[in-house]
Amino acid sequence: MTKIRICVVFGGASSEHEVSCVSAASVLSHLSPAKYDITKIGITKDGRWLLYPGSTDAMKTGDWEKDPGNLPCSILPDRAAHGMVILGKTPEFRRLDCIFPVLHGKNGEDGTIQGLFDLSGIPYVGCGVLASAVGMDKSFTKLVAASIGVTQAKYLVFRRHDYDKAPDSFLNRAEEELGYPLFVKPANAGSSVGISKVKNRASLRDAVMLAFAHDRKIVLEEAVVGRELETAVLGNEEPTAAVVGEVLPAEEFYSYDAKYNNAASVLVIPAELPDGVSDKIRETAIRIFSALDGRGLSRVDFFLRERDGEIVFNEINTLPGFTDISMYSKLFDAAGVPYGDLVDRLVVCALEEHGEAKA
Ligand SMILES: Nc1ncnc2c1ncn2[C@@H]1O[C@H](COP(=O)(O)OP(=O)(O)O)[C@@H](O)[C@H]1O
Ligand SMILES: [Mg+2]
Repeated sequence: MTKIRICVVFGGASSEHEVSCVSAASVLSHLSPAKYDITKIGITKDGRWLLYPGSTDAMKTGDWEKDPGNLPCSILPDRAAHGMVILGKTPEFRRLDCIFPVLHGKNGEDGTIQGLFDLSGIPYVGCGVLASAVGMDKSFTKLVAASIGVTQAKYLVFRRHDYDKAPDSFLNRAEEELGYPLFVKPANAGSSVGISKVKNRASLRDAVMLAFAHDRKIVLEEAVVGRELETAVLGNEEPTAAVVGEVLPAEEFYSYDAKYNNAASVLVIPAELPDGVSDKIRETAIRIFSALDGRGLSRVDFFLRERDGEIVFNEINTLPGFTDISMYSKLFDAAGVPYGDLVDRLVVCALEEHGEAKA
């Protein structure tokens, strides 16, 4: 059997750089060397591309960046190359069969790098340009979800340019239409960066400015009181959803700290739910994934609203956290697809998609 020449891309110029390195280390530890010929490209936080020859362990600590064997490199948009160039003393070209981007957040999960992969003609794991961009932008995700009748929290979108002209009228509108508590979020960020839960006017103003520091467009939402439930989707045209899991954040909401630094945050898999709730969440997740024209994988997050038992869509993550202990992989593990099989199936999806789309 000829091995699949796969290139794992990790890190990235994103606030989720560190999480990506840990996710990628897990993916790499499950890619069988018998099946795959593996290349690793690390992207530093300031956006340099490096061919990384070292161990997966050093990826988890950030030490990979100091590896003396690193060489500047790039995926080539030139279809004839169908691969990458490595800029050592003399340039070396390497053909690739598949790219596995394990990048979270901006510049990796938002369609930008997917555009380069499309130009290169190399199949890649995960969503394409449109689904990635729409999934990353909370205001556009909401438009797509609304178009298929999915229940969401009440929300408003503010643009920096308009807000600066009359901040008080925007703050008044948020108070009148959403009330307290409410959430303020950058439209494009991730990992709860720039997100605040707000309970009064003074902190609303600060929260809006914090969110604007991350994006010129922000989303304000009424706070949903309820349970946080998530499911994982896998596939292309006929995707499947895994079991449903519950997040029990250790803090008042699932902030960056609660996600990555607070060991008291708990994932319950499968979630204990009233009859029918799990199926409805799985079915809704697939509908949202398909409405976005999703490919490969996504984690789809919901609330189970306390006051009426309604399933309220929160967000879709087209390249969710992918460590062994991440929700995405654990949900599939509980559904009978262990991590190693999951990784193989994602590569198959990438190759299939390419065959269909480019034949
Ligand atoms: N409308 C809301 N009602 C209640 N909690 C919310 C709401 N929006 C966000 N949260 C809380 O904030 C967390 C992060 O928000 P989310 O929209 O998922 O951002 P991110 O894309 O950064 O994960 C959620 O996991 C949840 O704990
Ligand atoms: Mg989230």
